[in-house]
Amino acid sequence: MARTHAEYLTSAAAPAGFPPEDRPEIAFTGRSNVGKSSLLNSLVGAKGLARTSGTPGRTQLLNWFAVDSPQGESLYFVDFPGYGYAKVPKNLREAFGPLVDGYLEARKALRLVVVIIDIRRGAEEDEDLYVRWLAEHGRATQVVLTKADKLPKSKRIPAAQATQRALGLRRSPLLYSALTGDGRDELWRAIGNSV
Ligand code: GTP
Ligand code: MG
Repeated sequence: MARTHAEYLTSAAAPAGFPPEDRPEIAFTGRSNVGKSSLLNSLVGAKGLARTSGTPGRTQLLNWFAVDSPQGESLYFVDFPGYGYAKVPKNLREAFGPLVDGYLEARKALRLVVVIIDIRRGAEEDEDLYVRWLAEHGRATQVVLTKADKLPKSKRIPAAQATQRALGLRRSPLLYSALTGDGRDELWRAIGNSV
């Protein structure tokens, strides 16, 4: 696979701080501590680019990275803060905050929302509500089960099938490991198809 290039662009706490919509954007979203920043780093092959930590809530604000894809496209990757552990839609939306909500609803340059789920937990009510909400807003999504290295191989496909059923997805979610790089080519392909 061709080399990728990535660099930090900017962070924003309010729409006024969003950069111009001059490249297609890919958003990396999911529950707190699920491995969003690690996945982004492993995709672009730059370990310390997006800040990661074992403590939930590491990523605050929305963080933009300018990325050249292996297919030679110029993109922005947007690293999201975690959306917490809300159980009901109202709490979910509160946890999202107007920043994230507003971005997902209105951002014209947004081409794909990567929904990242811990393979050991699978999809819960939060993810179901969230994926539906994205569909209602006309957003293309790619569900990814990450930390695949934490499950034995024999349990990965069944986990993917269970998540596909739980969320009513047309296609199976992708399996990913930021530790081993498994799933990297498939996720790049999904990104390439969305832009
Ligand atoms: P917040 O920004 O705080 O919401 O977290 P995040 O979703 O960005 O997660 P982050 O990438 O910071 O990773 C959280 C923890 O999970 C870190 O300790 C990572 O090392 C670990 N981790 C992330 N991805 C993987 C993976 O694929 N495999 C394994 N084994 N650990 C992972
Ligand atoms: Mg993060």
